[in-house]
Amino acid sequence: MGWIALALGLILLGLLLYWQLVIAEGVYLGPHIVTLLYNWSARAYERIKQFDAGAEQWFLGLPLARALELIPAPLVLDVATGTGRLPRVLLHQPSFDGRIIGLDLSRRMLQEAVRRTAQFADRLTFLWQDARALPFDDDTFDAVTCLEALEFTPDPRAVLAELVRVLRPGGVLVVTNRVGPDAKFLPRHAFPRDEFERLLREFPLEDAKVQTWQVDYDLAWAVKAGEPQGGGIRPLAAILRCPTCGGQMNREAQAFRCIGCGRVYPIAEDGVIEIAKETR
Ligand SMILES: C[S@@+](CC[C@H](N)C(=O)[O-])C[C@H]1O[C@@H](n2cnc3c(N)ncnc32)[C@H](O)[C@@H]1O
Repeated sequence: MGWIALALGLILLGLLLYWQLVIAEGVYLGPHIVTLLYNWSARAYERIKQFDAGAEQWFLGLPLARALELIPAPLVLDVATGTGRLPRVLLHQPSFDGRIIGLDLSRRMLQEAVRRTAQFADRLTFLWQDARALPFDDDTFDAVTCLEALEFTPDPRAVLAELVRVLRPGGVLVVTNRVGPDAKFLPRHAFPRDEFERLLREFPLEDAKVQTWQVDYDLAWAVKAGEPQGGGIRPLAAILRCPTCGGQMNREAQAFRCIGCGRVYPIAEDGVIEIAKETR
């Protein structure tokens, strides 16, 4: 009897760990665990994902480049950029002549991103920071993207609000929502399609379309409501804001310094701006 109870207990524990660490990737245990898991798996990430270059261009690169083609030198923010998938796809599009900022909370994923995007280094900046506090002014970017990541953030609604805040009116939002067999094991982090459409309607967005994309993800496109304004490439110091006090930043040799509170955010040797080093 005792052995049976022990075996059942171990099976339950195994299932619980599988749910929390493999399916939910640590999201119910907090951002430190999510980040730890991505730091561990960063080198293997692209081998596991096996992105299909043609499909990536067809579903992401081409439509996004088209959506931006009337904007001279567009500025794009890719939140939870991981190993730099979206930057690579977009920078390979000949019609895209803009710049991209990629942000992620896993430093190791960013290390991989830097390595895998080296050929585009002069058109890319990477930031180590949490998506819940995007260190930018309101209404800044011509496009904001966040792929396969909302469900791994502690509060997808709050992150969506941040994505929309930094998008300029008339700018394009591209986000994914987790669907497929595992979505039911991600309560409050993955949404049935109609609920996700309703969620998008809570924000000042127009023309929201949610389309089937992959087995595990729907892809949503929307435009921020309001009179189109702003946008285009600007120096980082002009758009970066201190996530602690909201102050403007001054560029120094190897750091950004907040004019308001004096906090210093280092620029690492690989070029990544380490905001999270100060704010964690
Ligand atoms: C499945 S990967 C997706 C990466 C990339 N967007 C792609 O499509 O390949 C999820 C990414 O979200 C990042 N992430 C998770 N929580 C985050 C947070 N709170 N802030 C910023 N990035 C986060 C992880 O570090 C990881 O790189």
